[in-house]
Amino acid sequence: MAGDTYALVLLSAAKWLTDLGIVWLVGVCAFRVVADRVGASDVGPGELERRLTRHAGLALALLFVAVAARLYAQTYSSFGLEEPVTGDLLRLVAEQTRWGGRWIWQSAAVVVGAPAVAMVAARMRWGWQLLGAAAVAIVGTAPMTGHALAYSGGALIPMALQIGHLLAAGVWLGTLFVMLSAGLRSLRHGAGDGAAAVSRLVDRFSPVALTAAATLAGTGVWTAYLYVDEIPQLWETVYGRVLLLKTGLFGVTAGLGAYNWKRVRPLLGAAGGADQLRRSGTAELLVALTLLAVTAWLVHLPMPGE
Ligand code: HEM
Repeated sequence: MAGDTYALVLLSAAKWLTDLGIVWLVGVCAFRVVADRVGASDVGPGELERRLTRHAGLALALLFVAVAARLYAQTYSSFGLEEPVTGDLLRLVAEQTRWGGRWIWQSAAVVVGAPAVAMVAARMRWGWQLLGAAAVAIVGTAPMTGHALAYSGGALIPMALQIGHLLAAGVWLGTLFVMLSAGLRSLRHGAGDGAAAVSRLVDRFSPVALTAAATLAGTGVWTAYLYVDEIPQLWETVYGRVLLLKTGLFGVTAGLGAYNWKRVRPLLGAAGGADQLRRSGTAELLVALTLLAVTAWLVHLPMPGE
């Protein structure tokens, strides 16, 4: 593989891990809010809480790995084509480049998450609130190293759009992931009527997911409108073609979400309904994983309008 292709793969892989971590962490916090009333009466209070704490810890651990991977990838793409990546070069990129100055803010936001997870694990007051604030800080600093700050028309609007875009992605897909992997299991093994509790949980999640998906589409299309000057750039540039691919994947994800909402949700009170939800929800998440990989590639391509 040519050096610059390898650099693009490294940068995109590191960004993919970052976005996965962000979507996951936002999802844990959002799920806790969604499940608040539904969960408390049906699950031993410790059970769901324990699972959510584990998810929060794992999401944050992934973000630590991703932050380090991004520094390595950035250093490789700046110097690694000619010389090996050493500790000195990593320090140089982190401390003395504009990218590094922004990366440090992103890393600081991830570091703030660590005491928050510790407080959540120790069941301390304000632990979840602090973790929520850390998640917002992680989302708020994420677009600093992307196209938003480089946009020649001013950074404010693209920054705000990308923050809303990322939060919406977490609230929809992160919450879905946490609901399928932690929420359903806790409710089904809880003391009360498991099937009814699952049904109530999904009823509560559906309008949240719908709003988040609409926000995701709105902020995404608006960002694309800023970055793409003329319609033909959508098929004449690599950026445009990757953006079209991403839009197609969004269509598939949203279609599967609509299927879950319209077809699977009404079956939830009956036997086997939760299993069906887990299968079709997993399909929705797998397409979203691919979409995030495509996005990680997209953000490293030159914007056609610039
Ligand atoms: C499931 C749906 C979607 C997910 C999970 C998603 C996720 C993301 C993520 C994680 C970013 C990177 C944010 C950052 O770090 O700065 C991003 C950027 C972006 N998204 Fe989406 N997105 C989705 C749908 C859409 C749609 C429907 C569009 C519109 C066609 C869109 C257009 C964009 C654009 C233009 C960017 C900026 C890319 C750049 O920096 O050059 N997205 N998206």
